[in-house]
Amino acid sequence: MTDLVIRRLLVDLKTPLPRHWNGGDAFRTALFNALSMSFPAGEQFFIDSVKRGLARLEGPERERFEAEARGFIGQEATHRRIHQLFNAHLQQQGLVNHWEPRIHRRLKRLERLAGHEPRAWLAVTAAPEHLTALLSEYLLSHPEALEGAEPRLRDMWLWHASEENEHRCTAFDLYRALGGNETWRLRLYRLASWHFATDVLRQTLHNLWRDGTWHHASTWASAWRTLFGPRGLVRTQWRGWRRYTAPDFHPVEADGGKAERWLAEHAALVPPVRG
Ligand SMILES: [Fe+2]
Ligand SMILES: [Fe+2]
Repeated sequence: MTDLVIRRLLVDLKTPLPRHWNGGDAFRTALFNALSMSFPAGEQFFIDSVKRGLARLEGPERERFEAEARGFIGQEATHRRIHQLFNAHLQQQGLVNHWEPRIHRRLKRLERLAGHEPRAWLAVTAAPEHLTALLSEYLLSHPEALEGAEPRLRDMWLWHASEENEHRCTAFDLYRALGGNETWRLRLYRLASWHFATDVLRQTLHNLWRDGTWHHASTWASAWRTLFGPRGLVRTQWRGWRRYTAPDFHPVEADGGKAERWLAEHAALVPPVRG
């Protein structure tokens, strides 16, 4: 079991933010803005899944997961709140979140097809949790992704990335504890990955269009570098994406050291919630 600490983030998210907050780079800014737009709805769903999964466990199994589930819920609830504050700035800048209503529609479809079966919910949660764990590993080991970023926002992203890494096993372990099988784990992983990749692309393009920078050559040069360059997301994360499909995969095998170090070095910025 993982000991998950619920922390606060002592960062000012009230003062207005520069439009191209990520190093003046329109593409990197639009991409991270898109990701943030998915978090409030997505993370609420993860919280609900873990609550439902925990409620289905009994006796010692439930006791085994109780503290970890509480930590997971507390961390995701804090992420939601912080990204809502950040997303309010994006709205003020004229960006429109089309991803969130799409998430709501898909979750309604999931509810129609699977009802309240927690194993389905947890498989659909464990999949993006793996994707966010990959993204977090990427952010923590590729400083160029946030190079020149507004310091408040660099802190926000690296705190979120570190906690995603920290709680990467929770949904996966609960899915297994409830007897979730491999067929559905993989089927829903592929489906969730497809939706995630197409949604993040659509929202990024939309953000660039609203921003008026979609036709700049520098936008596409950065897109190529960020996605397909030698240290880009696709090349560096492809193996990690595939690894989830192996029968012997477990999220614990990922490197947790960088996240632990970041959280330890920034303890004053992200103090634990007491009580
Ligand atoms: Fe999160
Ligand atoms: Fe998460």
